[in-house]
Amino acid sequence: MTDHSGAGKLLVRDVAQLATPAAADAPARGKALGEVEVVERAFVLCEDGRIVASGAMSRLGALDGEVHEVDGSGLCAIPGLVDCHTHPCFLGDRAEEFALRAVGASYEELHAAGGGILSTVRATRAGDESDLRGAVEQHRGWMLRAGTTTFEGKSGYGLDRETELASLRAVSAAGGVPTWLGAHAVPPEFENADEYLEFALTEVLPEAGPLAEAADVFVEVGAFTVDQARRYLTACRDAELALRLHGDQFTALGSVELAVELGARSIDHLEATGEAGVRALAESDVVAVLLPASALFLDRPMPPARALVGAGAAVALATDFNPGSAFCESLPLVCSLASTQLHLSPSEALTACTVNAAYVLGCADRKGRIAPGFDADLVLLDAPDWRHLAYHLGRDLVATVIQGGRVAWTR
Ligand code: NIG
Ligand code: FE
Repeated sequence: MTDHSGAGKLLVRDVAQLATPAAADAPARGKALGEVEVVERAFVLCEDGRIVASGAMSRLGALDGEVHEVDGSGLCAIPGLVDCHTHPCFLGDRAEEFALRAVGASYEELHAAGGGILSTVRATRAGDESDLRGAVEQHRGWMLRAGTTTFEGKSGYGLDRETELASLRAVSAAGGVPTWLGAHAVPPEFENADEYLEFALTEVLPEAGPLAEAADVFVEVGAFTVDQARRYLTACRDAELALRLHGDQFTALGSVELAVELGARSIDHLEATGEAGVRALAESDVVAVLLPASALFLDRPMPPARALVGAGAAVALATDFNPGSAFCESLPLVCSLASTQLHLSPSEALTACTVNAAYVLGCADRKGRIAPGFDADLVLLDAPDWRHLAYHLGRDLVATVIQGGRVAWTR
């Protein structure tokens, strides 16, 4: 593995294609979602961790000083991918549950029987902070190899004060953007959701708030109601956190309306969203985060992606990486699912997991495009046409990942 310093100059030269979302305004909607600029035989020049120039090789002038070079011959350059929805802070696995689901048990049944999320809560609570840091670091490594250079990471498998705070610190320590998913499930030591929320908001939020960028809640039968979510999110907004919701995964309970009412940054899942929800999102600034790997993994209907894009809603794509509903860290696979299952073009998929995902994380001014001034985060794909990102189903095309102007991983 080559480890160039982000402080110097890095030239990626002779790439077969450079492809970047054109969208100057984030989030991109409608026609702008599908606008990708492609330059054949191109270079990208990075300095001090930022992109300073890019374009056709014929326009590359003489460079002075020391320049590290990466030969991009036969490869395509795209922006580093941005995963705006992951649950990387867990211990143990759910292979047993997966085997049961494979032959017919449902995710909701397992959850109601104290398995599912709560079984991961038990395993996660059994570790200490260094175990959690090791787990997030391992999962971050998996994401990086799949081309993710920026990731959001949620807590939510502790649901006690100590483990929730340790989870947020573990995500930050691994370079992630931490989200406090304090309302993921009701842990067994509480009688009901209201009692648990009272604890979470008085005992955890004061310390979780400064450690997190956003707050998230799972609105679902068996998790939290819309009114409970309103209470949780309003308190989190007062603590200056951006607001996110897991909504309409199995049941449309009114979380889209709540997201719009509170001016949330995003609502994620939407597998059960109907026409009214699509219209409400299209008229709002709330981003619809689509998680097709989760719908596939649970054998659920896909979210209404084409209707959302057609109506003018802002959509992003993410993995939902977690041990229960989406044991998948690959945004390239999510792009393939986006094209084959959600009917997004490869260009729409690319914008959705770069520019629009960066908007969800509040960093669209520096992440998600190959353009001067943007962070030098790039993925080099071993393919003759960048659209193989979505087209080549399940193949690992990621040859090299550049993060902050350094080669962070190469085959
Ligand atoms: O986004 N739906 C709620 N939370 C996660 C799944 C968590 C789990 O099953 O462990 C999700 O799908
Ligand atoms: Fe999730």
